[in-house]
Amino acid sequence: MSVETAVSTLTREQTLREMGLGPLWKLRIPDPAEDAVAFPLSLPERDRGRSGEGVTPVGADNPPSLDWPALQSTVATCRSCTLCEQRKQAVLGIGDIHADWLFVGEGPGADEDAKGQPFVGQAGKLLDNMLAAVQLKRGHDVYIANAVKCRPPGNRTPTDEELNSCRPYLQRQIALIKPRLIVALGGTAAKTLLQRDDIKVGTLRGQVHDCDGIPMIVTYHPSYLLRSPMEKAKAWEDLCLMRRTMFDLKQ
Ligand code: URA
Repeated sequence: MSVETAVSTLTREQTLREMGLGPLWKLRIPDPAEDAVAFPLSLPERDRGRSGEGVTPVGADNPPSLDWPALQSTVATCRSCTLCEQRKQAVLGIGDIHADWLFVGEGPGADEDAKGQPFVGQAGKLLDNMLAAVQLKRGHDVYIANAVKCRPPGNRTPTDEELNSCRPYLQRQIALIKPRLIVALGGTAAKTLLQRDDIKVGTLRGQVHDCDGIPMIVTYHPSYLLRSPMEKAKAWEDLCLMRRTMFDLKQ
């Protein structure tokens, strides 16, 4: 059974069980008066019709004016860092290019490098289940990208140099998509999005951060959750914070 079939046939209770969360967790209907988040939610009305403004250009290779096809082909042939040497293909991202939700992982693994899509392996299955637990589905108002677009050999963490070379592509994706909310999956995504070195997911989670004017929530990377299932309860709290934050942003 494919991941997509598996996810779509799971009930919400099965999904939560799959995440190791049990049937007791319930997504509460958000109460705006409750659990106020630190980020100022009265953001200026975002102009979703225009593209490109509002994201700070970084680096000599920043592609500030590329449209999607040009971005896709630029990334596919990119040789800005040594990750290009061992890739089968670059993995730009997948999903709804007008999504309110942008999820950002670390970088493609072997499965992603082979298929050309992010999060298609075991971590992807868990990510799909996490999305389903809060009534989200990849491709439906959700876009999934990575901090680096080429597979780091042996699935090692991308270096700062690699993150810096690839950041302009992620920034361009953000400028084109204009998500209402960004979710950083793990420390590497948080580091490149916030451009900070002092990143610990445990301390950054539970708050709404500001990523160049876009609210951003940090949670654990699905691969980490597969290795540390005890942390899934915290991931569930993060999913609830995401839902509440999106609810508030849409008011
Ligand atoms: N892990 C990531 O961070 N990204 C992927 O696309 C797959 C696994």
